[in-house]
Amino acid sequence: MEILRAAVFHTPRNPFLAANALAAYADGALAIEDGKVADCGDYSALAKLYPDAAVRDLRGGYLLPGFIDTHVHFPQVRILGGLGYSLPDWLEQLTLPEEARLADAAYASSVATEFVAALAAHGTTTALVFGSHFAPATASLFDAAEQRGLRIFSGLVLSDRQLHTELRQTPDAAYRDSRALIDRYGQARYAVTPRFALSASEAMLSVCQALLRESPASLFTTHINESSWEIEEVSRLFPWASDYLSIYERFDLVGPRSVLAHNVHPRDAELSRLAARDASIAHCPCSNAALGSGIFPMRRHIDANVRFTLGTDVGAGTGFGMLKEGLQAYLMQRVAREPIVLTPAQMLFLATRAGAEALGIENQTGDFEKDKVADYVYLKPDEGSVLAGTLNRAEDCERIIAALFTLADESNIREVGGAGHRLL
Ligand code: GUN
Ligand code: ZN
Repeated sequence: MEILRAAVFHTPRNPFLAANALAAYADGALAIEDGKVADCGDYSALAKLYPDAAVRDLRGGYLLPGFIDTHVHFPQVRILGGLGYSLPDWLEQLTLPEEARLADAAYASSVATEFVAALAAHGTTTALVFGSHFAPATASLFDAAEQRGLRIFSGLVLSDRQLHTELRQTPDAAYRDSRALIDRYGQARYAVTPRFALSASEAMLSVCQALLRESPASLFTTHINESSWEIEEVSRLFPWASDYLSIYERFDLVGPRSVLAHNVHPRDAELSRLAARDASIAHCPCSNAALGSGIFPMRRHIDANVRFTLGTDVGAGTGFGMLKEGLQAYLMQRVAREPIVLTPAQMLFLATRAGAEALGIENQTGDFEKDKVADYVYLKPDEGSVLAGTLNRAEDCERIIAALFTLADESNIREVGGAGHRLL
């Protein structure tokens, strides 16, 4: 057994529902055995309980559960930083041409290596990843993640209309290639992924329905209600649909294992049905602001009991940092039409345990409860930095977490552990 001694914070309960959801230990300890959390608490208590454990003194730094990014696009790592676009021209001019380059397997493989390294460097130990439109590229992502020891869920991205022709598959090819990937990597790690209703015909959505029926342990992920342009186009393409969600519902794609990205412009009826079906929303506040998509109606999601979590939405988002994403959620909700003041515990929950719940793996990861996989991020400020000074002056653990979300970044992530091995 190894004990990591540092300040330790995690949210084993939901701070949107429970008052005492944050577990915080200023002089804390995380005891790890065989890659699992053996214990977590005050250092003095754990030192007495496990006198023979090897102690690694990491004081001056902070241990958080590994971050969980529930919406991030692997083929978009090289187009980050493209500001000044709205969704349709960003797709048309920047994103789809880059995604087409992943037809080249060697190119795709180098992008995959870069992508998983970026996740690990930012403390993300689990991610639901939009794959590529090309099966070999999507396979290279699964392989790169496995090599790195990252827990990813992903799948072939499916489209058979609109978008660029080189990104389209026929429904038959989509079925065949998806099946082959599910057989190779296992249904538990697979996410059936139509890009969005705009680029998927009814025949393609039927393929998604068949795949999920055959592989009930798989996830379903896609985009919904991101921009007004998209919603208008979709209603034109599906004249029978009462709203956007009803299209996915028609093909049985909405349930507890569904993670729908954005939902910036939902109708009330859609929120009620999302809650009834126990689906989750991946909220991507940096992307929503960068593309001018709108401000996520978090208050309405909370009031309707719809689960939501955080995603970076690389490359429409502004990078891989889940701390930055949590801060952006906080900032946007302050100025939302129905404002919310997110607490530090809620921000931490959204970056960790909420993601585990959305992916149905809250028994494995997301916090430091006993017997979970020891997925952790260790952050430490540079001596003499603004972050170091702010943390030193912080009066309580909530202020420390707020300071980490506000001021820490990739450069402060010194160590990342996942399932008994080091990711960084
Ligand atoms: N809608 C369809 N494709 C995409 C994408 O790649 N990014 C975002 N943000 N929205 C989309
Ligand atoms: Zn996206």
